[in-house]
Amino acid sequence: MKAIVAVDEKWGIGAAGKLLAHIPGDLKHFRGETLGKLIVMGRKTLEGLPGGRPLPGRDTVVLSRDPSFDAGCKAFTSFGGCMEYLDGFDGDQVYICGGADIYRQFLPYCGECLVTKIDGDFGADSFFEDLDRRDDFRLLDESGRMEENGISYRFARYARLAPGVGGQAAASGAQSGE
Ligand SMILES: NC(=O)c1ccc[n+]([C@@H]2O[C@H](COP(=O)([O-])OP(=O)(O)OC[C@H]3O[C@@H](n4cnc5c(N)ncnc54)[C@H](OP(=O)(O)O)[C@@H]3O)[C@@H](O)[C@H]2O)c1
Repeated sequence: MKAIVAVDEKWGIGAAGKLLAHIPGDLKHFRGETLGKLIVMGRKTLEGLPGGRPLPGRDTVVLSRDPSFDAGCKAFTSFGGCMEYLDGFDGDQVYICGGADIYRQFLPYCGECLVTKIDGDFGADSFFEDLDRRDDFRLLDESGRMEENGISYRFARYARLAPGVGGQAAASGAQSGE
């Protein structure tokens, strides 16, 4: 499975329950990556979407410990139950979409992370793991800088390295999604 996330220079992802910045180019990127795929998110992230409802054109899976939570889509009350369900899917089709709580739990199972890197410090109160400080992920590629609404950003892709193995071969293997 893959994680898809937008981070600022401190790997911040949100503040006061909201995204850090409105970047149409990043929303387009997110849509292009996830359309027709299965996306996984926490209850708080779902509630931050327009109308608090799942995004169209994607199968959405939501996690909430409240069994009566009406997500308008498939919902799980535990990480284990959700993972069991995801086991039935090709890892390349599954995108972990946040927020911080969900990224933290699913990152150990992600083979690839698609990271939009936003320049600047946006005063975040929720964070993604700094992948540059981890030795089990490797930066595969990074786009040039783009600018929109006075905000500059770029798209980066990280792949998990096979345990105990470095180099391109391990990174390519991780692209299979696991
Ligand atoms: N920059 C980005 O790419 C990006 C992407 C997504 C979100 N965000 C930001 O991230 C922030 C929200 O993150 P967050 O960590 O506060 O919330 P979250 O991860 O979206 O949702 C947390 C909720 O998910 C449910 N949950 C978590 N683990 C569970 C488990 N194992 N079993 C069952 N339910 C579980 C719980 O819901 P209940 O309380 O209902 O039990 C928990 O309160 C917002 O600021 C949002 O804008 C940023």
